Amino acid sequence: MMNIVLLGPPGAGKGTQAQRLVNGRGMLQLSTGDMLREAVASGTPVGLKAKAVMEAGELVSDAIVSALIGERLDSAGDAGVIFDGFPRTRAQAEALDLLLAERGRSLDHVVEICVEEDALVERITGRFSCASCGTGYHDRFKQPRQEGVCDVCSSTDFCRRPDDNEQTVRTRLAEYRRKTEPILPYYNERTLVRRVDGMRSVDEVAARIDAVLDSSELVRGA
Ligand code: AP5
Repeated sequence: MMNIVLLGPPGAGKGTQAQRLVNGRGMLQLSTGDMLREAVASGTPVGLKAKAVMEAGELVSDAIVSALIGERLDSAGDAGVIFDGFPRTRAQAEALDLLLAERGRSLDHVVEICVEEDALVERITGRFSCASCGTGYHDRFKQPRQEGVCDVCSSTDFCRRPDDNEQTVRTRLAEYRRKTEPILPYYNERTLVRRVDGMRSVDEVAARIDAVLDSSELVRGA
């Protein structure tokens, strides 16, 4: 039951790597971005509060996202959990420690995925997904095998996130530098941070994350 945080700026590849861990290791991905987008799409009170904040590229309140994580953790069962896009502030990091401790869990690793700023903007502004099954694509790095047709479900309907434009990406990056990067020392004090070079290919980044996770499994089994 390994619990990890995937930390990194917008477009670093957190969601991409989380999906690989879900498929490869049966872990549970808890993405606050996905939860908030679901809330916006279904028009819940949380979604109504979050919509404009997300479209501006700013951070939704700590209380809202921490409550969302707490609800989902209750149904995690025995699965290891990947926190994707949470925590993003010191208050969220402290809330996560509490939520985990209340459930007899603790963090094993904080994997920091490091990517240069220009690459982040290119990754985000080129990203799109299947409107039907959610499979992710990219104008340059990952196009559907047949143009205009989803590889997984054959839908021809695609969409882009409203916050995936260059201006909002710059605000999201500034929020990351100002509010999220400063939580690294909080985790460094507990030697939880593992830095991974996110400028490499998706497979190479995945291999490095696997190496981090496998090394701690060896230690546990020793
Ligand atoms: P969220 O959905 O979490 O967005 P984000 O952090 O900005 O991250 P992204 O989903 O944009 O990027 P990613 O790192 O997952 O990269 P991906 O794998 O998709 O949050 C959205 C908003 O919700 C926030 O701005 C905020 O308003 C709110 N919010 C969410 N959580 C919150 C919280 N805890 N507190 C407060 N507010 C919160 O990859 C990007 C692209 O690059 C893809 O096209 C992919 O195919 C490609 N790619 C991935 N890896 C590689 C690689 N190695 N090489 C080449 N291309 C790659």
